[in-house]
Formats: sequence, structure tokens, C-alpha cells
Amino acid sequence: MVDIHAHILPGLDDGPRELAQSLAMLRLAAQSGTTDIVATPHASLKYPYRPAAVAQRLAELRAAAGDLLRIHAGCDLQLHYENIREALAHPERYSINGKGYLLVEFSDLIVPRHMEEIFAEMRQAGLTPVITHPERNWLLQQRLRDLESWVSQGCTLQLTAQSLFGRFGREARMFAIQLLERNLVHFIASDAHDAQDRTPRLDEAWRWLARRFGAEYARLLLEDNPKAALIGEGVRTPAAPQKRRRFWQLSFWKRTGR
Ligand SMILES: [Fe+2]
Repeated sequence: MVDIHAHILPGLDDGPRELAQSLAMLRLAAQSGTTDIVATPHASLKYPYRPAAVAQRLAELRAAAGDLLRIHAGCDLQLHYENIREALAHPERYSINGKGYLLVEFSDLIVPRHMEEIFAEMRQAGLTPVITHPERNWLLQQRLRDLESWVSQGCTLQLTAQSLFGRFGREARMFAIQLLERNLVHFIASDAHDAQDRTPRLDEAWRWLARRFGAEYARLLLEDNPKAALIGEGVRTPAAPQKRRRFWQLSFWKRTGR
């Protein structure tokens, strides 16, 4: 699997503080089937993005990790005015591997006006916005129509794996499922911050998706689309996943012939 959103660089944001903690996260990711992980430190008002420090930590972590797994460059970009200008001016600096897919995070307090124009400008600059964990943002939970329209405009959506299991509350879990059922989700990523609580494990999400929607769907969201993002190729929009019927529903079908 490929994890396109993980805070694994030490000492830069609210992720790991020490290199040893970063390595513990990488070991856990590798053990649970992740082959590639994108280091996405915050670029936010609280944690400004420092390109030189990011490059240095990335090099150190790659050297320490050896061939445990491949580590790619990325950024978790908060959508505010300066960041938007900066990303449009330097699309290669902030997108995944410099290939165009850009993680964008909405604030919990406000959805900027004219998002369609902003996303259109990003598309023109060669960027594909990846809207991160909309299911965890209570403003976006009320904005299904907008999310649909942004996706039809060429944006992509990324859910946090742990949302599927209720880590961010019932509303987030229900909205995540609703987005999946509406074929609006392109990626599932860990958004890991540590090796204990917000971990980089994706295997549980893979199994959950495969059980509920089928293995092909799990592969698309956790392997194929994230791999395409690494190399800047087009992602596929999921094709109407059918919710698997449970055993009791199947027996009801057999009994009633429906
Ligand atoms: Fe994040």
C-alpha cells in the first residue's frame, strides 16, 4: 500500500519529536504492508513550512530507514491566503513528489469563499487538489453538494483510515461512509502522527473496505490511486461500489426470492 499523508518527519510539527519515534512509525507501517509513505509536514499558521528543514529531515530519515520502505516528499497545506498564493507560485515545492497532487486542508472555522475559482487556478497551475479528511471537518460535513461539485471540477478526496473505525467520532464515521457510497473518495491515508494512537497502519482499513465494498475497491483507494499520485498520473474515480450484503440479508433474499 501507499500512504500519501503521514506526519513522520521528526521535530517539525505535531508529529514525532525524535528520529527514534519516526523510525517506530516506519517500522509499523512496513509491518502492516505499506511500501511507500509520503512525509507531509503541516504548512499552517501554527506550523509554518520550512523547506530547508524539511529537506534535511527527509534526508536524515531516508538514511536511517534504509530499505524499510520508500519515503516521498509532500506537504499538508492549510488553505489560507498566503499558502494558496505560495502553492500557485511553486507547485512543485508542495505537491507529492513534485508531481502535482497537493494535499489541502480546510480550516475548522471557515470555508473560504470562491473555492471553485481557487481550485480552478490550482488546476491551471498543474495541481490536483487532494481535499484531506473532509469527513472530520464539521463545516464540510454540511457541504456535500460543494464536495460533489469540487470533485466534478477535478479535485480528489482523501479520507483518514481511522475515521472508518470511529476514531474521530460518529459523525465523521457516518460521513466517511456516505462519501464512499457516493463514489467521491479517491484515497485513504493514515494521517499518522505517532506509533501508538494515530498510527500509520492501513491494513485494517484495507480489510474493512474489502469486506464492505470488495477487494478491487480497497486496492483502488489504498494502492492504485495513491501510486498514480506518486508519479503524477491520473487517478480513477471509483465505480459504484456495491455494499456487500450481510449474511442475514442474503438469507432474507433467499426466503423472499427478492
Ligand atoms: Fe495531516
